[in-house]
Amino acid sequence: MKIIAAVPACAQVLAQLDEKRPFSAHWSVQAWQGELAQTAAHIWCAKDRGKLVGFIAVRGAAGQYELLNLAVAESQSRRGIGFSLVQRALQELQQTGAERITLEVSTANLPAQALYQKAGFSVWGIRKHFYADGSDALIMGKDL
Ligand SMILES: CC(C)(COP(=O)(O)OP(=O)(O)OC[C@H]1O[C@@H](n2cnc3c(N)ncnc32)[C@H](O)[C@@H]1OP(=O)(O)O)[C@@H](O)C(=O)NCCC(=O)NCCS
Repeated sequence: MKIIAAVPACAQVLAQLDEKRPFSAHWSVQAWQGELAQTAAHIWCAKDRGKLVGFIAVRGAAGQYELLNLAVAESQSRRGIGFSLVQRALQELQQTGAERITLEVSTANLPAQALYQKAGFSVWGIRKHFYADGSDALIMGKDL
């Protein structure tokens, strides 16, 4: 498995993986194309034997970043890929002088909460009724 920077040609396959996973952002191909074109966006893919098996998307400026989207293919779960993607993003952001990263995660998404805690994030707050179904989000953050 290797982690590489995403390129615009990845949009379709990223959207296909994104739509299959619960709790990810479910961006359309067009939304992925838009994100990949943004200078403030940083997107990495996990590839295993030529196949896209995970991604992470962060965006930010002036030292403040937000983790916007993350998923790993269900067939590849619990192999450390999600953790490796988060670590790669944190390392690259630290090298650019980033100061802080935040994210929102559903209160129902215990696997992702555990992953972020393992990567050094902690709970900074809660956004009530954040999701379309009325459920709440935890705000998690990490100083870099
Ligand atoms: C959350 C997700 C990215 C984790 O990816 P993964 O590659 O399976 O995770 P890893 O193997 O790197 O696990 C890292 C840590 O996360 C936690 N974790 C991952 N899956 C877990 C699960 N099913 N139950 C409990 N903890 C879990 C554990 O702390 C794990 O560390 P450990 O293996 O030492 O116990 C993946 O389950 C996923 O794509 N979920 C759907 C999309 C999503 O929730 N995105 C986040 C939106 S905020």
